[in-house]
Amino acid sequence: MTTLVISSQKGGVGKTTVAVNLAYSLARRGWRVLLVDADPQGGVGFSLSEKAREAKGFFNLLSQPGAFDPASLVLSTRLPEFRLLMCGTADLMAGGEEPPDSPELRGQLADLWKSFSDYDLVVIDTEAGIHGLTRAIMAVSDFLLLPQQAEPLSVRSMPRLLRHVANLRRELGEGVRAARLAGVLLTMVAEEEPVSQEIEGEIRELLPRDLLLDTRISRDPAFLKASRAGVPVALLRRQQPTAARSFDRLAEEMETRLNLAMTSQQKESDEYTRLLD
Ligand SMILES: Nc1ncnc2c1ncn2[C@@H]1O[C@H](COP(=O)(O)OP(=O)(O)OP(=O)(O)O)[C@@H](O)[C@H]1O
Ligand SMILES: [Mg+2]
Repeated sequence: MTTLVISSQKGGVGKTTVAVNLAYSLARRGWRVLLVDADPQGGVGFSLSEKAREAKGFFNLLSQPGAFDPASLVLSTRLPEFRLLMCGTADLMAGGEEPPDSPELRGQLADLWKSFSDYDLVVIDTEAGIHGLTRAIMAVSDFLLLPQQAEPLSVRSMPRLLRHVANLRRELGEGVRAARLAGVLLTMVAEEEPVSQEIEGEIRELLPRDLLLDTRISRDPAFLKASRAGVPVALLRRQQPTAARSFDRLAEEMETRLNLAMTSQQKESDEYTRLLD
């Protein structure tokens, strides 16, 4: 099982959109994917459905250790490979405060990830900012994906962001598998704006080679429509096909970066999705 954290310092850059649509695309490609909403604001539930929004989830597991079997809080979807752990009741955390990063919290999270070892991939959506709970999550997860908006502010904040990630890896020590940077993903690219292309060039120059993913996500009203309808963009009935296709391309690129490898049994057994539940 591989764990992938979607994170950013800034809010509203498209983390939740990336988490939901990438997790869904990878599940469509046959991987058993669990999407975990670790944002106390419940971004994933918000862009999925009312039932999902009300479900117990991640924060119930953190605040009441041992009270629930983690598997019992996982929601199934029509796509058998795609499952969800909602954020749950975030206000249960002591005094409404989020727990700070600590060895105990890291231990608790690591145990939780272990209980999901039957999945190929666990995708974790986090709140904006790289501190506290998100830092603890990063410390016990394999890979990071950093969505960045194609705007001047992203260029300016990029060195600090990379320093943050490097510091965390230094703290974790040599040889640890955690918090490897799988890539930076440009989101909400305004294709018609030349300035977007310029910013992409500047970001590419700033980053070590190969860190910027080839796939970029365009600004597209389909994503707003999809989150209002509570579905991944690929499920919109009159979807703009490019929006969904960019996530299929991203899924393909991430398979390589995350070194996902399918067993021959999976290849043989997961060739179709059931039409009826
Ligand atoms: N590529 C896109 N094109 C158009 N709209 C988008 C795109 N990606 C995301 N959005 C919209 O922008 C808003 C913010 O996106 P999203 O919630 O994914 O960001 P976030 O980084 O998770 O925010 P937060 O930091 O608050 O959790 C949402 O309304 C979403 O539907
Ligand atoms: Mg979000």
